[in-house]
Amino acid sequence: MNPTEAFLSGNISGLEEGQPKHVVTAISNIFVFPDKAYKIYKSDSQFFNENFNDLSNKENRFNFTRKDFDWNHRLSPEIYIELKGLAKQDDKLSLVDPDDSSEELVMIMNSIDMSNQVIKKLVDGKIGIEDCYEIGKQFGQRILSFSKPSVDVTAYKDFLSRYADMIAWVKSVKEIPQDEADEYLAYVKEFIESHKEELDNTESMSLCFDVHADNAIYADGKFLPIDTYAPKEAWLYGFKNINIYRVATDFYVFLGKKAFDEVIRGYEEVVLQKLPRDWDKFMIFYCELIMWPYQYMLAEKEPWRINIADKHHQFLQSTVSQI
Ligand SMILES: Nc1ncnc2c1ncn2[C@@H]1O[C@H](COP(=O)(O)OP(=O)(O)O)[C@@H](O)[C@H]1O
Ligand SMILES: [Mg+2]
Repeated sequence: MNPTEAFLSGNISGLEEGQPKHVVTAISNIFVFPDKAYKIYKSDSQFFNENFNDLSNKENRFNFTRKDFDWNHRLSPEIYIELKGLAKQDDKLSLVDPDDSSEELVMIMNSIDMSNQVIKKLVDGKIGIEDCYEIGKQFGQRILSFSKPSVDVTAYKDFLSRYADMIAWVKSVKEIPQDEADEYLAYVKEFIESHKEELDNTESMSLCFDVHADNAIYADGKFLPIDTYAPKEAWLYGFKNINIYRVATDFYVFLGKKAFDEVIRGYEEVVLQKLPRDWDKFMIFYCELIMWPYQYMLAEKEPWRINIADKHHQFLQSTVSQI
């Protein structure tokens, strides 16, 4: 019996009663029970295996899952509880220690109410400017607990490789008008080149969290990032201010400049540093060239996202271009 069938038919010892909600994404199966949720990475996502990390190989899949779990557990221990293995015992599967002999690894999480996902709350108008300072601050506090990685690539080199990835990302989405995207990309490239001197060091590199309005929950005044382990090894490191700008930019799109400033102000309070605000336009273009195409990609399965993608488009045209 494969793990999916076992979760859906209740053939796993010790699970809570009831039929879980089954969420299938491009790369994982998630089984959501009222109390706990269980996530297992897929081995057969051709796109992910070819472009990011080959999870068809069990050793790779286990390595990736362990690193992903440790990272998310560290950032949001309120959600990511523990990693377990699945092993056959009699005619059932059981949750056991997560060692290499397990059939699959399973992340055990507290179930979350996804109506608290930041993107949904922004769409529903349930987050206001008054929340933004606190969000920036809490996010800063969470990432400060991670120590600085030692990397040998400079922020300049890293941005160039991110820029190459970005071209492929943007071009893969048919809804994006390419001439317009090319203008934004040219701005980004020109900025990287004209700031080579400031970027050409490893000091300004840090861990990079895949964090944005889709990958965070905001409930009872608490900001909780989820699923922020980057799919590609190279994206785990990057220019240190990318993290906060990705969050702040999403707030800018929905709530305006004041919200953006407040997220940054909260973050600055914690890191005890002022951000170079004359880089805003570059950082926002950079973040938007990720989010705008991403929302169109997600819209294939969730049509309500078309409006969000269009909102990003409008934001690029009428706000960012005017900065
Ligand atoms: N702890 C959880 N509680 C409730 N639903 C969850 C939980 N974790 C994941 N989900 C559901 O599964 C979706 C995908 O989860 P995610 O961890 O982002 O998977 P992937 O790595 O495949 O993107 C979420 O958007 C949410 O709908
Ligand atoms: Mg995800």
